[in-house]
Amino acid sequence: MSTVVLITGGNRGLGRAYVEAILKGLKASTYKIIITARNADAAKAAAKELNETQVAGYGCDIENEGQVDELVKAIEKEYGRVDILINNAGTFPRPTWLTTGAAYDGQAQKGEMTPKEAWTKSYSLNVTCTHFFTEAFVPLLLKSESPSIIFVSSRVGSITSQVNKGIPMMDSAPEAGWPKAPGFNPTAYRSSKAAFNMMAREWYRTLLNDGVKCYILAMSGYATEFGGGPAAEKAAMGMPGPEVAGEWVRGFVDGEHEGEEGRFMALDGEHGW
Ligand SMILES: NC(=O)c1ccc[n+]([C@@H]2O[C@H](COP(=O)([O-])OP(=O)(O)OC[C@H]3O[C@@H](n4cnc5c(N)ncnc54)[C@H](OP(=O)(O)O)[C@@H]3O)[C@@H](O)[C@H]2O)c1
Repeated sequence: MSTVVLITGGNRGLGRAYVEAILKGLKASTYKIIITARNADAAKAAAKELNETQVAGYGCDIENEGQVDELVKAIEKEYGRVDILINNAGTFPRPTWLTTGAAYDGQAQKGEMTPKEAWTKSYSLNVTCTHFFTEAFVPLLLKSESPSIIFVSSRVGSITSQVNKGIPMMDSAPEAGWPKAPGFNPTAYRSSKAAFNMMAREWYRTLLNDGVKCYILAMSGYATEFGGGPAAEKAAMGMPGPEVAGEWVRGFVDGEHEGEEGRFMALDGEHGW
């Protein structure tokens, strides 16, 4: 019996890197992997490129309740259950030092959406809709003999890190005066990922006695298309490639991280909340 893995946002970026790593692992042949993207054709094309027999692509905007319901029905019909859910779909704002792309905080700084819209969008995608997507899949997870959920969070959502000025560029206090000079100021994003952490911990608590293992990952910076800019631009700044995160996440999928459930784990060990 195959292990059914569902990855939101698995067509590109980190999500795709998890699939590539899982398919190179020792347990590769044991998996059926479902990836989603907002565009069904993009999801199906990625699945075909990755591995036609083991990967299937579905269209699903996790912010669209109707599409989430349809996905639950389709997966139930085809696979009957989900063993591992990876809540990966999300966004990261475009840092202002990059020349292209923009998402949420970045778009607000460019005047493409209001700051309030940036906050609302960040919370909707990263917190509210990830929560309700998870809820929609609980019945299928509970049909698994060994269910787990992997929540992809971010180091910049760590309050401990902000207090300790873990990322000086983001965590240092700006010059006095109002309004503040524009700069890389992803307040909506990092607030949403801090809320994401509590949402994930709540799932850990809620499903603990149901045997669902919940892992919460403090992802650091990887050269993907996050925020809309090209990956190459971020790679040129020295960010590692997504394959590094892919191999780390593969370990969770393959069951190599027993004991890390409910903790905020980074690649180099436990991270402060
Ligand atoms: N890369 C980093 O440095 C970094 C650091 C910390 C945390 N993270 C987190 O890692 C996760 C993946 O980031 P990434 O770097 O791979 O970003 P990315 O390259 O921008 O990819 C984002 C993925 O999420 C999907 N997505 C976005 N909005 C969606 C929606 N409403 N419904 C369904 N899918 C949606 C995208 O699918 P479409 O093709 O349909 O747009 C895409 O597959 C995010 O949660 C991000 O916050 C990334």
